[in-house]
Amino acid sequence: MANSKPKVTLSAAITLDGKIGQKNKQIVLSSKTDKIRVHKLRSKSDAILVGKNTVEQDDPLLTVRYAKGKNPIRIILDSHGTIKNNSKIIKTCKRVPTIIVTSEIISKPNLNRLQKLPIDVIVCGKTQVNITKLLSILSKKGIKTVLLEGGGTLNRSFLKKNLIDEMIIALTPYVLGSKNTVSLFEGMSFPELKTKLPLKLKNVQKSGNEIILNYKI
Ligand SMILES: NC(=O)c1ccc[n+]([C@@H]2O[C@H](COP(=O)([O-])OP(=O)(O)OC[C@H]3O[C@@H](n4cnc5c(N)ncnc54)[C@H](OP(=O)(O)O)[C@@H]3O)[C@@H](O)[C@H]2O)c1
Repeated sequence: MANSKPKVTLSAAITLDGKIGQKNKQIVLSSKTDKIRVHKLRSKSDAILVGKNTVEQDDPLLTVRYAKGKNPIRIILDSHGTIKNNSKIIKTCKRVPTIIVTSEIISKPNLNRLQKLPIDVIVCGKTQVNITKLLSILSKKGIKTVLLEGGGTLNRSFLKKNLIDEMIIALTPYVLGSKNTVSLFEGMSFPELKTKLPLKLKNVQKSGNEIILNYKI
């Protein structure tokens, strides 16, 4: 019987104080060596998944460029379907397979605009994307591995629903502080410290000034 959900691997670069970014400002935490590692990881994944804010703020390509290999399918979670036509994702969607996932809250004009593009549009969820349902849809499409590349709000949703099978975290030699920053898992503080991950630390690797932490079930 086919697996009902693809394997989800969360990949992120964090500062020493657990931040992944700054609000409304693009920053680069990864070294060139680390970018090569992440791009190799991308090339081995069927799909790469990010939240709308990451696309709005960083305007990423989400392709494999620092390593050899195929591009994964890019999946953007955008409940209102407001991704800009001049974003790098949309500008490259003819050559890189792309899925935009929206919810039933999307307006007709936004849905029409997206449906005219050479992308796959999935409507899944009432006011926000239902990630459990989405993973089941992706599984039916033959997607077996998903690289979850943030940001913090989306990571939190996956953590909350216990959908993360593996985490590969690059600990970088920076600090960002708490004001206007984005945490690895954004949102309300967890009620208790014992909100521990159902994952175990399996490997630690030093790479230049970075430490790669690998947690698995
Ligand atoms: N260091 C790293 O490795 C790394 C990687 C990626 C991003 N980042 C940083 O992370 C920051 C962005 O993170 P963010 O937390 O602001 O936003 P995000 O996680 O990128 O995007 C969140 C948005 O995705 C949409 N979404 C749709 N369905 C969702 C669901 N079920 N659960 C959660 N979100 C859903 C929501 O917008 P709608 O309701 O409009 O759909 C939500 O506001 C940026 O600073 C970026 O640079 C860092």
